[in-house]
Amino acid sequence: MAEPAAKRRVAVLISGRGSNLAALIAASAGGASSQLVLVISDRPDAAGLAHAQAAGIATAVIDGQAYPSRSTFEEALQTALEGAAVELICLAGFMRILSAAFVARWQDRLLNIHPSLLPALRGLDTHERALAAGVRFTGCTVHMVRAAVDHGPIIVQAVVPVRADDDQGSLAARVLAAEHRCYPLALELVASGRAVVRGERVMIDAPGPPADWLMINPPPG
Ligand code: GRF
Repeated sequence: MAEPAAKRRVAVLISGRGSNLAALIAASAGGASSQLVLVISDRPDAAGLAHAQAAGIATAVIDGQAYPSRSTFEEALQTALEGAAVELICLAGFMRILSAAFVARWQDRLLNIHPSLLPALRGLDTHERALAAGVRFTGCTVHMVRAAVDHGPIIVQAVVPVRADDDQGSLAARVLAAEHRCYPLALELVASGRAVVRGERVMIDAPGPPADWLMINPPPG
């Protein structure tokens, strides 16, 4: 019988709550093409570390405050990643901007999730700005990381409607629920080789939506 294909070794980098990490852990319990081998936090108090510990995944705290420079911090990060033979990195609420050199080293092996439909609403406070702009839809994006913040080839997006009665909390909760579905999907597409970057676009071997798929907000009629 043929050997099952080796799973890609994944590290998740967090700074806080870790709900996306929890979604990735839940998804990797199935027959995923990846295995989470390391969770790194740049903050010792990140609540998300507990998700990794509960799942028996190795954790490391590389305290951003404890290093004199970004390059020394990133050297420590790189050492930890190499020590665990990591092949793919998922940033999941990791609140540190990585240098162009680090990003280049992990070109097309470094994923991020952002709570908007990129390229709209890059940066922080996305839901507040979505509400202020009066958009009818927002969503989330999983993308390959490039040196410019919240830029890079898009792997998966989910569209989330904005309701007239939404406030930041209700909108954030709806987008977060979408994030929890998108990140495992994106990781599986990349880890299985079905999503490949070509010319700064991600080509996907997966069925697309029907051509007449149309979301209108407010719904007509
Ligand atoms: C998510 O909204 C993610 O899109 C953004 O930071 C948040 C992290 O949340 N980059 P969590 O720590 O995964 O719960």
